[in-house]
Amino acid sequence: MGWAIHYMRREEAEREKKYSDWTLFKRVFSIFRHYKTETISVMAVVLTASVFSTLIPILMQQTIDMFIKPDRLDFVSSLIIMGGLYLIFIVLNFILILARTIFFAKLGQKMIYRIRNDTFAKLQYLSFDYFTETESGRTISKVTNDVDALGELLTTGIIDIFADFFSLIWIVVIMFIYDVQMTLVTFTIVPILLITAVFFQKRVRAAYRRTRVAIAKVTANLQETITGVKVTKALSREEENIENFRDLNRENYEANVEAAGVSSLFIPIIQIIAGLGSTLVIIFGGYLVITKQALTIGELYIFLEYSNRFFMPIISLFTFYTIIQSGFASAERIFEIMDETPSVQNAKDPLYPKQIKGKIELNSVDFFYTEDVQVLKNINLTIDSGQSIALVGQTGAGKTTITKLLSRYYDVTKGKLLIDNTEIKKIDLELLRKNIAVVPQDVYLFSGTIMENLKFGRKEAEDQDVFDVCLVLGLHDYILQLPEGYETDVKEGGSRLSLGQRQLISLARAIVANPSILILDECSSSVDPITEALIQKGINYTLRGRTSIIIAHRLSTIKNVSKIVVIDDGEIVEEGTHQELLERKGKYYDLYETQLTSNIVE
Ligand SMILES: Nc1ncnc2c1ncn2[C@@H]1O[C@H](COP(=O)(O)OP(=O)(O)O)[C@@H](O)[C@H]1O
Ligand SMILES: [Mg+2]
Repeated sequence: MGWAIHYMRREEAEREKKYSDWTLFKRVFSIFRHYKTETISVMAVVLTASVFSTLIPILMQQTIDMFIKPDRLDFVSSLIIMGGLYLIFIVLNFILILARTIFFAKLGQKMIYRIRNDTFAKLQYLSFDYFTETESGRTISKVTNDVDALGELLTTGIIDIFADFFSLIWIVVIMFIYDVQMTLVTFTIVPILLITAVFFQKRVRAAYRRTRVAIAKVTANLQETITGVKVTKALSREEENIENFRDLNRENYEANVEAAGVSSLFIPIIQIIAGLGSTLVIIFGGYLVITKQALTIGELYIFLEYSNRFFMPIISLFTFYTIIQSGFASAERIFEIMDETPSVQNAKDPLYPKQIKGKIELNSVDFFYTEDVQVLKNINLTIDSGQSIALVGQTGAGKTTITKLLSRYYDVTKGKLLIDNTEIKKIDLELLRKNIAVVPQDVYLFSGTIMENLKFGRKEAEDQDVFDVCLVLGLHDYILQLPEGYETDVKEGGSRLSLGQRQLISLARAIVANPSILILDECSSSVDPITEALIQKGINYTLRGRTSIIIAHRLSTIKNVSKIVVIDDGEIVEEGTHQELLERKGKYYDLYETQLTSNIVE
C-alpha cells in the first residue's frame, strides 16, 4: 500500500498557525485552477473506474443466479458468453486503472514542477534579510520535501479521497438496493473497525514522529560534520564524531524498528476485522439463502464482495488523513515563502537613466539592521563621479554595511542616498545593480569553469575582454597554468582554488562586468603582500574613470587614494588624504601605527 511512506513525509514539528484551515484549503484547491482540463479528465477517469469496478461483482452475481443452476440446459453457451463478458470487464477495468495511475502521475508531476519553479523564482527576488534570518537548510527543505508532500496531497490525497468517498457511497447505495437487512449486518462491523483504526493511527503516528525527529538529528549532525570537516581534522575529532553519530543513528534505528513493528500490525488486524465482517455476512446470508430463500447465492456473493470493498475505502480514508495533514503543513510552509515580501522593492515607476556616471551622495544616513541595533549614524559623504575613495576602520565599524546600502541590498533607515543626484530608490533596481560591481569580502564562485565565473556579471562579454582584464591584473598567466586553463572547473564555491586565488578571480569578475561604480571590500586580504603589490597596479589601472570605493585591509595599499574616510562605530570620524590624516594623529594614525608595528613583528 505504501502508506507507511506517507507517515515519513510528515513534519514532526507542530506548525505555527499562520493561515486558517479554510484559507489554506482554498489556496491549495486553487492550484487545480491552472489544470482544468487535466483535473476534469482525471476526475472522469476516477469516477468511471470506481463505478466500473463495482459493476464486476454484479455481473458475477447475474451469472451465478441465472446460469449456475442444475436445471439449466443451455448453460454451456451462456456461460461462455458470461465468461467472455467477465474477461472484457476485467480488461477494461485494468485499462481504467492504468489510465487513472498515469493521469495522476502526470498531473501530480506537472503541479510539482510548477510549484517548485515558482518557489525558486520567488526566492531569487527575496531580499538579503530573508536569507540572513532564515536557515538555508529550512529553505532548501521547503523547495524539496515540502513541494513533494504538497504534490502528493494534491494527487494521491485529494483525488484518492474523492475516489474512495465516491466508491463508498456507490457501494452503500447498491447494497441497500439489493438487501437492507444484509446491508445492516455488514454495517455492524464498522464501529469496531473505526475504533481499531483510530487506536492504531495514534500509535503509528507517534512512532513515525519519533523516526522523523531521529532522522532530522542524523541529517543535521551529518551536515554539520561535513561542513566542519577542516576543524574536525585539525582538532582530531574523528573518534568523537563517529561515536556521536553512532548514538544518533542508533536512536534512528530503534525508532524505525518500533514504527515498523506498530505499523506492520495495522493491516493484518484490519484484515482480521474485515474477515469477521465477512463471517457475519456468510452466516447470516447463508441462513437467509438456505432457510428462507430470501437471498440468492449470487446475492450472497455480492455482499461478500462488497463488504470487503466497503472496508477498504474506510481504511484508506484513515491513511490519507496523514497525507492530508502533512500536505497542508507543507503547503503552509511553501505559502510562507510565496507570501514573503522582499523588503527592498523596485520603485513603481522606476527611472532608467541612460548612463550612470557614478556620483554618490549620502546625506545624514542612519541604518539599523534590526530595530535596536543602529549600525550607521549620520553618515554624510560625497564621492564625485570617477573618484576613488577608501574606507577604513576596525572590523565591525560598518564599512561593508555602507556598500550594501549602495547596491540596495538594504534600504537606508533614515536620510538620503543619491546616485547622480537621484535617490536610488527611484532608479530601476536591476539597472542600478548592473552598474555597481562589488567584490565582496567573502568571495563565492559558482561551480563551473573559470571563464563562466568571470563572465557571470556580463554574459555577453567576449573572451578577449576577459583576457584583457586578467592580463592587467596579472592573473592571465596563472590561469593558463591550470590544467585546463580558463576551462578549469572550480567546483562548488571555488573549493579547488586557494582563498587568495578566489579573491583575484572575484576581482576580475567584477571588472569584466564593466560597472560605473566599483566596490572592493578587502578584496585582496588573503593575497600575499607581494602579489597584492603586483595587482595593485592593475587595480589602479582598472579604477580609472570609475567611481570606486576601496575598503582596505592593508593601509599601505591606499596611500595614494585621493580621499580616505575613517569609520568608527558607525560614524565618520576623519576624512582626508593619507598625509593629512597622519598629521592629525587621530584614529587613522593609530591604525596605521599598529599595522606598521605588527608588520615589523611579522
Ligand atoms: N545581517 C546583519 N544583521 C545584523 N547585524 C549585522 C548584519 N550584518 C552586519 N551586522 C553588524 O553590523 C556591524 C557592522 O558590520 P560591517 O558593516 O560588516 O562591518 P565592517 O565591514 O566594518 O567590518 C557589525 O557590528 C555587525 O555585527
Ligand atoms: Mg566588512
